[in-house]
Amino acid sequence: MLEFTPNYANGAGSKSKPAGRLLVLSNRAPIRVVSEHGRQRIEPTVGGVGATFLRLLERHGGVWIAWSGSKSAPAPLRMPPDAPCFSMVFPPLTERDISFYYHGMCNRGLWPLMHLMPQNCHFHAQHWNSYKSVNALFAEVTGKHLGAHDRVWIQDFHLALTPSMLRKQRPTLPIGLFWHVPFPPESLLRIFPWRRELLEGMLGADLIGFHTPRYAEHFVDCCARICAMKVDRNAGLISWQGRTIRAASFPLGIPADYFAQLAGSDRVQARVRRIKASLGSPIMVLGVDRLDYTKGILERVEGFERFLELNPSYHKRVALVQIAVPSRTKVEDYARLKRHLDELVGRVVGRFSSEGWVPIRYLYTQLGAEELVSYYQAADVALLTPLRDGMNLVAKEYIAARNTDHGALILSEFAGAAEELKEALLVNPYDVDAIAQALKQALTMSEEERRSRMNILRRRVHRNNLDLWSQKFLGELERQNAVSSYAAAAG
Ligand code: UDP
Ligand code: G6P
Repeated sequence: MLEFTPNYANGAGSKSKPAGRLLVLSNRAPIRVVSEHGRQRIEPTVGGVGATFLRLLERHGGVWIAWSGSKSAPAPLRMPPDAPCFSMVFPPLTERDISFYYHGMCNRGLWPLMHLMPQNCHFHAQHWNSYKSVNALFAEVTGKHLGAHDRVWIQDFHLALTPSMLRKQRPTLPIGLFWHVPFPPESLLRIFPWRRELLEGMLGADLIGFHTPRYAEHFVDCCARICAMKVDRNAGLISWQGRTIRAASFPLGIPADYFAQLAGSDRVQARVRRIKASLGSPIMVLGVDRLDYTKGILERVEGFERFLELNPSYHKRVALVQIAVPSRTKVEDYARLKRHLDELVGRVVGRFSSEGWVPIRYLYTQLGAEELVSYYQAADVALLTPLRDGMNLVAKEYIAARNTDHGALILSEFAGAAEELKEALLVNPYDVDAIAQALKQALTMSEEERRSRMNILRRRVHRNNLDLWSQKFLGELERQNAVSSYAAAAG
């Protein structure tokens, strides 16, 4: 066991501190600022981090430091524009940063590495150097906005070095890091040339959160084996430079009430009727993802094709609606995936379509919340088959948007959400026959079984919601910061 035992009841963790602000750092902002002909326009972005913290900061206020989404560095904004309650600050990234740091190191290096896909990994020293300088820029900008009692919450793999950089500036600052993607086992992290720097960078935080216990275990194991650090695997503690850092699982929750309310609104109900009427089949199966090779969209369409092959009685009765949001389109792997998906959808549509029935409706677009929830509501089955996913918020949103116990979720066993959503039909996304079988099961299971599964899922998604998640993380951050500061002062 590591020695780190101040008494919480008497120690700094229990003293009530003056309330400071929450500073959130992420690469991606919930909005993109587009400059055209000297004028600025704001567009929403898509992704779990943006969606999560937009709703949190709307409720609690604070400061959000993130990339503007382009090479322009707009002045700070008050957000949301119609009812401002938090500030957005944009560190200025150059074109070279965007190319080397974002497209290079983040999207072609760390993203596939974290998702256990070494065949997609490209590592270049120039990209790493750019990653380091952008992480330093975030630390510098944050330093300028920090007040005496503020807390910092850093998001995701884009900013792994920022915790240590900030720690050097502010030895006792509460710093949390949440890792929204999986964390690979030690044998895989070893292929990363800067593995040690990456781990040490993360350890500037007091608390490092992951979606599942397995990811947290991998992280602690990497610290022990790659960096020879002293760890307590059971407690998820790492001892480094006189501080004690905790790595633990905090499965991300969603604002379930928000989705349930939106789903029940008249506008959504009207849209649901329109979607169903236009589909031409009574049963709708839905897939929603950024167009990303980790999401298993090709495998899903192949599974649906197999289902149609094996079940001619469902022809004309079922359609797959696949919403694929354009993502990272400048990266070749994503452009290639788009070409493959276009071809595959074309093949299945050409093979099975008949008078008045098209088996797949494929929308390459980004939907707003109201439209998206209308699709969630309209869908009899959600088919989500990521090959690897940190969590998969869409799965939880689909459940929260069911106002009755109707509906079924088929979910990849390799999504972090599968750890919690055990009543879903869990499938191996690499097995097209299993996907076809799960579809058959979802469509033929008794009404009683469907209701019972969905009822448990709904209750769970409502219970572990976004507020509870953030309270748990921030509460634990405060405790762990007291522990770390105590250890550093004593050591
Ligand atoms: N989303 C959206 N519009 C769309 C598709 C998705 O706003 O057209 C949102 C969705 O509501 C969810 C997020 O994008 O909150 C996707 O999160 P998820 O964890 O499923 O996947 P990620 O894209 O973060 O890998
Ligand atoms: C995943 C990552 C997020 C990222 C999102 C969208 O959810 O964990 O950090 O923001 O994908 O990707 P993008 O590259 O467009 O930010």
